[in-house]
Amino acid sequence: MYRPIGVFDSGVGGLNVLKSCTELLPNESFIYLADKANMPYGNKHKDEIAIAAFDAANTLFSLNCKALVIACNTATVTAAERIRMLYSTRVVVGLEPAIRPCVKELGRGGYAVALVTKATFMSERFRILLDSCDRKVVPLAVPELAKLIEDNLGDRARLSKYMQCVFNDYMDAEAVILGCSHYSYIADIIRDIYGGNIKIYDGADGAARRLKYCLEIAGLSAQKSEQERTIRFLSTYKL
Ligand code: DGL
Repeated sequence: MYRPIGVFDSGVGGLNVLKSCTELLPNESFIYLADKANMPYGNKHKDEIAIAAFDAANTLFSLNCKALVIACNTATVTAAERIRMLYSTRVVVGLEPAIRPCVKELGRGGYAVALVTKATFMSERFRILLDSCDRKVVPLAVPELAKLIEDNLGDRARLSKYMQCVFNDYMDAEAVILGCSHYSYIADIIRDIYGGNIKIYDGADGAARRLKYCLEIAGLSAQKSEQERTIRFLSTYKL
């Protein structure tokens, strides 16, 4: 039976998460939903983000998805708990800023910068994550960045110039946490700004491992079948 895994984000950011999932789970089929009509989530009120996330979850579950990956930090910190309550019998995996893995490896005197959207910055879940750290993590909201990346993926010079300003006051940081799935597209730019001397943390692989684990526990992992796996792409658009 065709039972894909639904993955959504506000745009191209979640494709990084989809890539990690498809590599780790070669027998699974996927449907990716880019909710471009509501992009950027990060500049919206939390209630609006929750409505957009419920709609996306609903669309994917109505397409017979057996599991959902919220490939978006903003939607996860804002709406994952409520989506899990609403779909309590389904596997729902979220994406959170990789603060814990980063803090484990951070030196005593060093600090990390966590780049996030405005909505993530203001969320209670993000505060709880930050408060649980025993190392210094500087949270930095970058309200325009996700949209800038979404619209200028090919314009590396523009993105690089923007990022140089963002990091101007943080050139002595030991690590950068990419707290939005869009930011994975500029990991190379960040590395260059620090002359290669920076650790970068991204939550995509962690979310993929969590998905694999949850599917196994729920007995939902796909067996190798004669049919080729499929990866379908959907998008919402504002007319
Ligand atoms: N990619 C999303 C995230 O991980 C947010 C982008 C947006 O603001 O729409 O937070």
